[in-house]
Amino acid sequence: MRANWNYPTAVRFGAGRVAELPEALKAVGIVKPLLVTDAGLVNLPVTQDTLKLLRNAGVEVGLFADVKQNPPAANVEAGVAALKAGGHDGVIAFGGGSGLDVGKAIAFMAGQTRPIWDFEDIGDWWTRADAKAILPIVAVPTTAGTGSEVGRASVVTDEATHTKKIIFHPLMQPKLVIADPELTVGMPRFITVGTGFDALAHCIEAYSAAGFHPLADGIAAEGTRLVLENLPRVVADPNDIEARGNMMAAALMGATAFQKGLGAVHSLSHPIGAVYDTHHGMTNGTFLPYVLIANRNAIEARMARLAAYCGLPPSFDAFLNAILALREKLGVPHTLRDLKIPADRRDEIATMAVADPSTGGNPVTLDEKLAGRIFDMAMEGRLA
Ligand SMILES: NC(=O)c1ccc[n+]([C@@H]2O[C@H](COP(=O)([O-])OP(=O)(O)OC[C@H]3O[C@@H](n4cnc5c(N)ncnc54)[C@H](O)[C@@H]3O)[C@@H](O)[C@H]2O)c1
Ligand SMILES: [Fe+2]
Repeated sequence: MRANWNYPTAVRFGAGRVAELPEALKAVGIVKPLLVTDAGLVNLPVTQDTLKLLRNAGVEVGLFADVKQNPPAANVEAGVAALKAGGHDGVIAFGGGSGLDVGKAIAFMAGQTRPIWDFEDIGDWWTRADAKAILPIVAVPTTAGTGSEVGRASVVTDEATHTKKIIFHPLMQPKLVIADPELTVGMPRFITVGTGFDALAHCIEAYSAAGFHPLADGIAAEGTRLVLENLPRVVADPNDIEARGNMMAAALMGATAFQKGLGAVHSLSHPIGAVYDTHHGMTNGTFLPYVLIANRNAIEARMARLAAYCGLPPSFDAFLNAILALREKLGVPHTLRDLKIPADRRDEIATMAVADPSTGGNPVTLDEKLAGRIFDMAMEGRLA
């Protein structure tokens, strides 16, 4: 038994703790931060209030918000230019996965001389980076899904090839996270549901992945339970802070667990997101049951155990049915058609899925034939 295990960054978790941000910056040695967030969030009270509390505390904070969903590398380049122009010495990565990932990538790329794609998560490419030039990051998530706040990677879209690439460096992991569930209450329902299914997919894929990692398995199982119990609660009452907190914890846990590996849900969802600009988590939610079915032979016993842990009858079918019921209740598109994805690029998507870095974690070998079959099942809503 041999494995490499890494555990996440320091997390200050709790309602209202965003107030500690000025002190958190001091704790990691950031004097003049650049707050990075996305173009939609920047004008909302959640961001404006945070900027206000920083300024009231005397922090000289800059702002960069030219960040799209499924962010392209151009967003990172523009952010690096803004960081240099403002003389900033660290980054507050603020937002959902898009804002967090771009914030992390800006802090990473600020001092590098090579292009961003040289640091794709392939082999030991990360060692090409000048580690000393990476700026410190404080992460403040405003969605409960990606878990990017505790991750060492940033997902950036290569617009030339319409592929999502993972940029990796151990020091891209934020030095400190402020996980304040109050920041998530303003999410539109669609984003609450979509990000919740991202967290769920991370937990289930990590739990299903091949490989010896009982620590990740334990975290993934509890993360799964938290999502199943709390996602319906936050949708029913967006101001339920306890349930929001449980979702935020589940999101951190999913990303902690998926260092074990992801799988075909993410392999397929990445090219769909890169080509059609769909929401990442919602796309995962659509694919999840089809991938469980495709992997059934390899994970049947594990899923029965997970079902039992989640208080369901101890069987694969009980777990699958719980996922299907949750999807239906919360309005997750059941088919790719419902997600407005056409079928005409099926083969291309299958090829891209196989090449995705998540593919290695899938418990059965994902080749083009299987990826195409899952695509067809998801297009037609076929559960067999
Ligand atoms: N780095 C990782 O480990 C990792 C893991 C999974 C996904 N991702 C990436 O993260 C991205 C998806 O992130 P996401 O699902 O969090 O969505 P997102 O960051 O793209 O945000 C979606 C929308 O929600 C809005 N929003 C966010 N928080 C809000 C709030 N509190 N109130 C109101 N509106 C709010 C944003 O403005 C945006 O319009 C994708 O690019 C995906 O590939 C990264
Ligand atoms: Fe994800």
